[in-house]
Amino acid sequence: MKALLNDFEEYLKNNIPTSKSFHPNFENALQDMLLAGGKRFRPMLVLSVVNALNPMLLKNAMPVALSIELLHTYSLIHDDLPAMDNADLRRGHPTLHKSFDEVTAILVGDALNTYSFSVLANAPLSCDTKIELIKILSYDGGIDGMIIGQAIDCFFEKQKISLEELEFLHINKTGKLIAASLKMGAIVSGTNSELIDRLYDFGIKIGLLFQIQDDILDVVQDDKTAGKTTNNDTFKNSFVNLLGLETAILKADELASVCKNEIQNFDEKLQYNLTTLLKEFLYRHKV
Ligand code: IPE
Ligand code: IPE
Ligand code: MG
Ligand code: MG
Ligand code: MG
Repeated sequence: MKALLNDFEEYLKNNIPTSKSFHPNFENALQDMLLAGGKRFRPMLVLSVVNALNPMLLKNAMPVALSIELLHTYSLIHDDLPAMDNADLRRGHPTLHKSFDEVTAILVGDALNTYSFSVLANAPLSCDTKIELIKILSYDGGIDGMIIGQAIDCFFEKQKISLEELEFLHINKTGKLIAASLKMGAIVSGTNSELIDRLYDFGIKIGLLFQIQDDILDVVQDDKTAGKTTNNDTFKNSFVNLLGLETAILKADELASVCKNEIQNFDEKLQYNLTTLLKEFLYRHKV
């Protein structure tokens, strides 16, 4: 798993977006958040599935893994803007609108979004596969996925929604891109549609868990440990704000054990790869 992560970091560095112009700092801003690091959870989901199902295609899957990390990184840059969550720290660095300015942060986000699809379209895969992948990323990262989740998240600040609505919000803003990562790995591997659907459904649960944990970490971690602005959800609909910290932790425990059991239903190689990757993530709310 470490080797895969290193390969991904290497691939990212060699395929970092560039912009050649006389703009004094856009090029630096474009690369800043990508090079700042992050857990690389979504690309590792892609690569873990390919490693299990069709390891010969790992090299071809690198641009697919990168495309999701690019789209995710754009979503973080926009999420931190003053008009959204107004955060100063991300991936252990000042947020882009702090290091540069708001215009730059907005445009870098836009650039990473479009570059993400460019990377996918140029991947060494069949055109049919690439169209499938583009459909998935644009759906799960788009209007009926991450975007509607973010829209609801921001619109309903200071206004309580129901627990059912909160699950809808979290599944959309975070769950679907995580589910898409597993699904895109399965598509690259050329596996059957039943397994593709099962991985997507499993990914929705993992994604919901990931965001519940993120809500918990917002209150239990400081900025330095999290590498991002925490204690920032005061006016948000979060699992902690709706259920209280203890119940939110119980809910995360419960979902983590559902996910752990579901891994056992996959075949041996998938079980091994998913367990290896997810052991770091399933209980990350227990800090
Ligand atoms: C943060 O994502 C935003 C959420 C969807 C919870 P990550 O926790 O994956 O952030 P990085 O990529 O590691 O910085
Ligand atoms: C962000 O959720 C989800 C995205 C789609 C970027 P949060 O706003 O909770 O993420 P953090 O806590 O700022 O990383
Ligand atoms: Mg947010
Ligand atoms: Mg935020
Ligand atoms: Mg958060």
